[in-house]
Amino acid sequence: MALILLTCVLLSLWLRGHCQDVIQIPEVSWTDVTKSAEMNCSHNRDKSYNQMYWYRQRPGETMTLIVFTVFGGKPDYGQSSQSKYSAVKDSIETGALTVKNVQPDDRGLYFCAVSKHTYFGAGTRLTVLEPGRSPTTPTVEVFKPSAKECNDPNKKRKKTLVCVASGFYPDHVSVSWMLNGVQTGKGVATDSTAKRDGDSYRITSRLKVQAKDWFRPGNRFTCTVSFFNGTITTPHSASVSCTLKYLRITQNAKLFYVVLIVKSCIYGAFVCFLVWKLQVCQQPPYELNFQAAKMSL
Ligand SMILES: *[C@@H]1O[C@H](CO)[C@@H](O)[C@H](O)[C@H]1NC(C)=O
Ligand SMILES: *[C@@H]1O[C@H](CO)[C@@H](O)[C@H](O)[C@H]1NC(C)=O
Repeated sequence: MALILLTCVLLSLWLRGHCQDVIQIPEVSWTDVTKSAEMNCSHNRDKSYNQMYWYRQRPGETMTLIVFTVFGGKPDYGQSSQSKYSAVKDSIETGALTVKNVQPDDRGLYFCAVSKHTYFGAGTRLTVLEPGRSPTTPTVEVFKPSAKECNDPNKKRKKTLVCVASGFYPDHVSVSWMLNGVQTGKGVATDSTAKRDGDSYRITSRLKVQAKDWFRPGNRFTCTVSFFNGTITTPHSASVSCTLKYLRITQNAKLFYVVLIVKSCIYGAFVCFLVWKLQVCQQPPYELNFQAAKMSL
């Protein structure tokens, strides 16, 4: 039964991947300020799907409807400005949206949906290039848990690692975390959008880890920021581990044991000496002297 269920899930995933209903082209639009960005949408559903909606989603915001089009009718722009958007619906299967006189504010995701029942495309991501700016790759840093948090004797508490990528332009990035080279999604919280910082962008991501994972020797936590420069995506990484702190702890422990062993040896030697002396002198009662010697140690 479980096997059948698994097969069904896998089959439906495979079908979803192979028979995408709504296709948006391009996936990424990299457009200079004041230029126009054109995006196309097509679908392979039946002839009753003759309506097409275009939505905009600004970074960190929800979707808003730009325009509704229907094949054979006039586009309905609602509240949207026609000096900013123009939509065409030339056939039942296709349509297009143009964002005119592109400004930094226009950056974001543009979704196409077709209906009667609504089917969405995967979106076109519009990145707006400001004049005279060329892409700059990010600088990535990972910060350890605060000293207080790192040395916290309560080993049950979670530790927070913070990854900061800064100085990049434009803001086409994604952040991922790895533990010893294996990607981890658990406990990850990344800013929903890169924030403007002077004339570049900055994004922050946090990873919460179990204290035992943080303290385990050799565990290495890596933050990777994938940056798209209009041509290729490059990874930019930084790593941390708690190893240094851990070494210090074991060295302290070693020192503690050495002192303990030396102390025991001295004590042992002293007892031997006492016993030897008492045997030589044959002078009872020695019980009291022994106790006094123990106390003075
Ligand atoms: C959109 O479709 C039109 C007409 O088929 C084509 O000329 C244009 O190049 C397409 N634009 C993109 C961005 O794919
Ligand atoms: C993107 O990076 C590649 C490799 O570093 C470089 O060849 C290309 O010119 C860059 N593209 C832009 C638009 O800067």
